[in-house]
Amino acid sequence: QAAQEAQERGWHLYLVGGAVRDVLLADESQPLLLEDVDLVVDGFHRAADVGAGVTLAKALRERYPNARLDVHGAFQTAALLWHNDPVLDSLWIDIATARTEFYPYPAANPEVEASSIRQDLYRRDFTINAMAARLTGRRGEALPLLDFFGGMLDLRSRQIRVLHANSFIEDPTRIYRAVRFAVRLGFELEPQTQDYIQYALESGVYERSLGANTRAPALETRLKAELKYILEAPYWQRAFQLIGSLGALRCLHPSLKLDPLLWWRVRLIDRWLRRFDPDQTLKHWQMRLEVLIAHLEPQERGKVAENLQLPIDSIERLQHLGQAQTEVVESLPQCQRPSEVVLLLRQYKLPTLVLIAVHSYRAIRRKLWHYFTNLATVQAPLNGNDLKRLGYKPGPHYKEMLDALLTATLDGVIQDEADAQAFLEQ
Ligand code: CTP
Repeated sequence: QAAQEAQERGWHLYLVGGAVRDVLLADESQPLLLEDVDLVVDGFHRAADVGAGVTLAKALRERYPNARLDVHGAFQTAALLWHNDPVLDSLWIDIATARTEFYPYPAANPEVEASSIRQDLYRRDFTINAMAARLTGRRGEALPLLDFFGGMLDLRSRQIRVLHANSFIEDPTRIYRAVRFAVRLGFELEPQTQDYIQYALESGVYERSLGANTRAPALETRLKAELKYILEAPYWQRAFQLIGSLGALRCLHPSLKLDPLLWWRVRLIDRWLRRFDPDQTLKHWQMRLEVLIAHLEPQERGKVAENLQLPIDSIERLQHLGQAQTEVVESLPQCQRPSEVVLLLRQYKLPTLVLIAVHSYRAIRRKLWHYFTNLATVQAPLNGNDLKRLGYKPGPHYKEMLDALLTATLDGVIQDEADAQAFLEQ
């Protein structure tokens, strides 16, 4: 339908980017489900057609009133979204007008000017993502694949190859994208591309933009989105190792490296989370990111978390982690009775405690593990309702009574309801 709408207006319409790559890689035995489709309109000559992508999206919206239409004027793009549609299920179609981008300064937001499809493809990240399939044409005509940069060859030889030397300087998220595609598709980073990554990292451009606070917020958002994508993928460990071996954690902070201790910590927190948060009430990808940030000096953590626009509770946790860690490491060894351990540790939430665990020496870790497995879930034999039933008048003293009961239970002084009643009567 989109092609027909474009054809009627004398425009060309192309399928571009990841969908072309995925169609070309698809295995015939497995159905390919495209959820995210990028289209580009090109071939117009009048200045008035610069917003062709938006015009097309609006025309399609009229045909499919179920779709949601989002227009991003500044970029001449529009998106059509279907969510749980009975026919299309979930589908996201981005329609852009062919464009080039120039970068006013490195690592900034791209600005847009109308141009041709070749230039549109040239501004993309990797050869395998820079092919287009034309969807418009004369009836019966075989629709061509536009492959100006050797994408097909790279798909066959399984290479992630960047289109130009400055690609990573312009957009550091591409380093993480390179890693993501390499690991997900089982491809190699082509040697020259690796050199460009090294060059970009060593040029210090990211550090400078960090220090001078000239990073566009959109870049931070994209960095975080890429990190999320990677850290929640089933292949996150391999991707993370590749990021580490490229030295690409530097994009987050100049001193951040994947040393053996950090690698051990990210895997350890995973084990703790699987054990103590099996239902994933916490975002495990975010906890992995927090371990990375917590590997920095305490005074640096909050700033990096803020730059990445982590949620406020996460920023605060990282800001106060150093202090919480000192308190726990100093006080926990002095706790003699189980109730003292619970009294100390229940002030902290699970994410803080697991972060403390992976940053502590073994004896502390063991005590924390024991707390989670044996103490944190202990309950007194009576609760508030029971106290009421037993004739105790409700009031603020309930908390004291319940605390005393819990302490006595934890320390083995009482075991059942009868013990508890006797204990209260004393
Ligand atoms: N792109 C780019 N540089 C980026 C992000 C995206 O050049 N930093 C281009 C690529 O051509 C990419 C297309 O925009 O193919 C669409 O981006 P996106 O949807 O993020 O990636 P996909 O390639 O579709 O990958 P995925 O299937 O993982 O979503």
